Amino acid sequence: MPKQILKFPAGFLWGSATSAYQIEGGNTNDWSEWEKSEVRSNKLEKEGKNLDDYLCGSACKSYELFGEDIKCLKELNCSAYRLGLEWSRLEPEAGKFDKSAIAHYRLILKTLKENQIKIVLTLWHWTNPVWLIKQGGWENQKVRQYFSRYARLIVNELGDLVDFWVILNEPLMIIGHGYLDGKFPPNKKFNPTLFKVIYNFLAVHKQSYKIIHNRYPKARVSLAMTTGAFTPANIYNPLDRLMVKLANYFRNDWFLNRLKGYFDYIGVNYYHHDRLSWRPPFRKNLNKKITDLGWEIYPAGLEQVLKNYQKYQKPIYILENGIADADDKLRPDFIKDHLFYAHQAIKQGIDVRGYFYWSLLDNFEWAEGYWPKFGLYAVDRKTFKRTARPSAKVYAEICKNNRVVIS
Ligand code: FCB
Repeated sequence: MPKQILKFPAGFLWGSATSAYQIEGGNTNDWSEWEKSEVRSNKLEKEGKNLDDYLCGSACKSYELFGEDIKCLKELNCSAYRLGLEWSRLEPEAGKFDKSAIAHYRLILKTLKENQIKIVLTLWHWTNPVWLIKQGGWENQKVRQYFSRYARLIVNELGDLVDFWVILNEPLMIIGHGYLDGKFPPNKKFNPTLFKVIYNFLAVHKQSYKIIHNRYPKARVSLAMTTGAFTPANIYNPLDRLMVKLANYFRNDWFLNRLKGYFDYIGVNYYHHDRLSWRPPFRKNLNKKITDLGWEIYPAGLEQVLKNYQKYQKPIYILENGIADADDKLRPDFIKDHLFYAHQAIKQGIDVRGYFYWSLLDNFEWAEGYWPKFGLYAVDRKTFKRTARPSAKVYAEICKNNRVVIS
């Protein structure tokens, strides 16, 4: 391919993303409880795994070391940071808010502002206070009331510092892994309560949207969608093509369609591509280039996802896109190739306004523990020192120049 210089629109946001539980350390919530449970430990022991690698524990110690993280963001020339709040830390007991935690988050957000970094704040990224879980968690309609109380607190205490709001991160991922395959807490399999959870997610999103907008009418509020790109295993087979249509609708559109009027932009998390066949096992991802986690690398899918979202006529921000790549061999091209397709979408008039690489740091990758390395920065598990990987330099150049050079 001849050398190409892809210029991004002025004001395009260049960022990186993390979530509270995955980096903060020292949290007690439904995940930390599950990690310590007998069922979980027995399973890991049977698989011959080292339990410590699967306990979130201190994570990256970012709650204390947030200054180090901000240094990394500055080194990367990032103009924005997507980070999360930990509900269980802010409200350790139902209805009792921890003032020191609020003050601490305020300090983090203020420091970001002082460093001219725009804030994309996630209110819920999969983890829940234990007191909520004891009452049935997201299956209980009361979650609507509880979440409103939490959202009101955040709006009142931190709202003045927020540039973009993400109410829920990938709610459908929790439906899939929490209520269908049981991989994530509450570890239910094909459980019909998932419908209650879906409707509570939708209600919580809408009411939080209103709470934020009542106080800040110009706020930019949305959610992060777990998107997927699909192609037919056999393009000539109409049934395979039908599968693609259905998958696209249920993965990318169904939930969003139910929230019309309740999002100001679209938050895209893009990692997945599947080749679909109408015949079991339905997925036919054959010998493709993959990440350390075995996920197929398919940058063209990003353009497909972005194009699909054009119909909503809202600005789009890519809030997560990244690769588990311990050797850092694939990451530079992974980033550039995805940006190539984001740029293709922009060239076609699709209003893409930002890109957030997942993740700033190596962090706790949920049920997979610490072995997948998504970070632009490696984190020493003992000293918590952050070290830039070569790809961090590549990304820093892109952020600085607002362009991608493909050679
Ligand atoms: C996304 C999650 C994020 C991270 C990446 C790899 O689905 O939102 O927390 O684990 O996957």
